[in-house]
Parts: sequence; structure tokens; C-alpha cells
Amino acid sequence: MSNITLKVNGITVNADVDGNLRLLDFLRENLELTGTKEGCSVGECGACTVIMNGKSVCSCLLLAAQCHGAEVTTVEGLHRDPVGKRLQHSFVEHGGVQCGFCTPGVLMSAKALLDQNPQPSDEDINEALEGNLCRCTGYQPIIKSIKAVLKTR
Ligand code: FES
Ligand code: FES
Repeated sequence: MSNITLKVNGITVNADVDGNLRLLDFLRENLELTGTKEGCSVGECGACTVIMNGKSVCSCLLLAAQCHGAEVTTVEGLHRDPVGKRLQHSFVEHGGVQCGFCTPGVLMSAKALLDQNPQPSDEDINEALEGNLCRCTGYQPIIKSIKAVLKTR
């Protein structure tokens, strides 16, 4: 068991966790933040993407114990920030919300990108989405949704 303290969506959380508990399970089961999804479990699909200390990470690959002292944002916390809120609205408006499995992870990758690079090129956007697999071939509405946010900045 490890005792961890971290900030999740702006709220300080303290918990005793098993050494092998993944961040993904900690978020979904301990904190009941079920917006973060589990797809592949091996770091390939991006469904479990959250932002930790400003970077997008696969929560299936991190142990909760490794996140002591970290700041984590999940899709439930996206609306707390103006860019996150704009992304949510834009995804709804431009058809970027396609399936409930991929969308949370895609939104988090997009948010991490715009935080690091407020005016990304098409190539930057494609690169940022490389880790988010969408099997419905729907990348175009996702990219359109992200680009629409750039126009409002
Ligand atoms: S569930 Fe983590 S990358 Fe697929
Ligand atoms: S958005 Fe989920 S498969 Fe395409």
C-alpha cells in the first residue's frame, strides 16, 4: 500500500492504494470518474488518455502510486478551462463526437495539444491524434472540430 496525494480536476485527493493499481482504475473505480475509458489496456488505443502535469498520458500504463504529487485532468474536468469548454462545444457542433469510447481520449489529446501549441498546424494536429485510434474512420470531423477552436482564439 502507498499513500498518495494528488489533484484531480482541481480537487486534492488523498488515498491508500495498492502498488499495482493503475491510474485508470483509480480514476474509474476509486473516484468514480468513468469518463476515462479502457480499450486496449496496453497503451495503443488512447481511450484512457488523461492529462498529467500538462502532458497527455495513457492512464492504463501508469500506476496510481506513480502519480503522487501530480495534477491530473480527466474529461470530467475539461469544462473547468475555457479551451476545454470550447473544444467540447466544437466537437458537438462539428460532429467530432462519434462514439463514447474514443471521444474522451481524443478530447484530452486535443486539449493537451492546444495547451502546448495554441496554433498547431495540420501536421501537429495529426501527430497529436496519432495515439488515439478511431475505427469508424471518423478523423475528419474530429480534425474539423479542433480547427474550429483555433479560429476562435
Ligand atoms: S486503454 Fe490505455 S491506451 Fe488503450
Ligand atoms: S470515434 Fe470511436 S471508433 Fe471512431
